[in-house]
Amino acid sequence: MPIAIVTAATSRWDLIPLVCALALLAGVAMTAIGLAERRRQQHFGHYSEAPRRKRVAAGRPAGVHWSDRPAFPQDPPMTPDLRLVPVTPANLDAAIAVRVRPDQEHFVTSVVKSLAEAYVHPRTAWPRLILDGSDAVGFLMAFLDIDWNGKGVDFRSGLWRLNVTPGAQGRGVGRFAVSSVAAELRRRGATRMYVTWHPGDGGPEGFYRKLGFELTGEVSGDQTVGVLAL
Ligand SMILES: CC(C)(COP(=O)(O)OP(=O)(O)OC[C@H]1O[C@@H](n2cnc3c(N)ncnc32)[C@H](O)[C@@H]1OP(=O)(O)O)[C@@H](O)C(=O)NCCC(=O)NCCS
Repeated sequence: MPIAIVTAATSRWDLIPLVCALALLAGVAMTAIGLAERRRQQHFGHYSEAPRRKRVAAGRPAGVHWSDRPAFPQDPPMTPDLRLVPVTPANLDAAIAVRVRPDQEHFVTSVVKSLAEAYVHPRTAWPRLILDGSDAVGFLMAFLDIDWNGKGVDFRSGLWRLNVTPGAQGRGVGRFAVSSVAAELRRRGATRMYVTWHPGDGGPEGFYRKLGFELTGEVSGDQTVGVLAL
């Protein structure tokens, strides 16, 4: 269609409306792409298991999605130095020292117990320490492909544990943790991410709902089950 219009044009002044229309279309398309990316980031933020500088230098690993553009001003503040690292002999003490507020302790298992569980479930547990620069600000553990009801038909992956230190809460560490696990599960081919939580005042339900988790309607023991489409 544009070719027909161009050939029909008798002078370059005739092309001005066409050029304006094409510029307008390009603007609308770029705005739509920007809005879609903003919605994705509002849910997931950025993901990195390596420091940002090294990550950019190393290139993008297959299946891991993030955006290297500056955040929109409306996006929640993200600390650029957040990253996940495996728990090693060198950082074990720092990992065990990660504790939540005393009034939150009944909502999550201690890191030391989670690491013991990871030891006895090495194939299904994916524990990681969350660092902000060199400071340990949290701990997470994902579960991978567990047989949900023991019948061999429903295998699920998701977030098993999440502990953010009191001083780091409210700064996007939890969002980063969820985003990181979502990226790891996507990389492994999962299409859903599950989480369970203890209901109750001061608990994490509002946090998970804010990040897009929906109730499955199930309970696991005394915990609510939530799911996020990846
Ligand atoms: C729940 C927890 C992981 C949240 O971590 P966090 O680092 O404080 O969360 P973020 O700063 O990333 O918050 C992300 C968003 O969720 C909101 N949010 C955080 N905690 C919330 C809560 N308890 N209720 C409702 N909203 C909450 C934040 O306001 C923020 O929203 P915004 O982006 O609009 O500002 C943390 O408070 C924690 O470790 N709690 C104790 C242990 C626990 O309950 N773990 C979960 C076990 S299943």
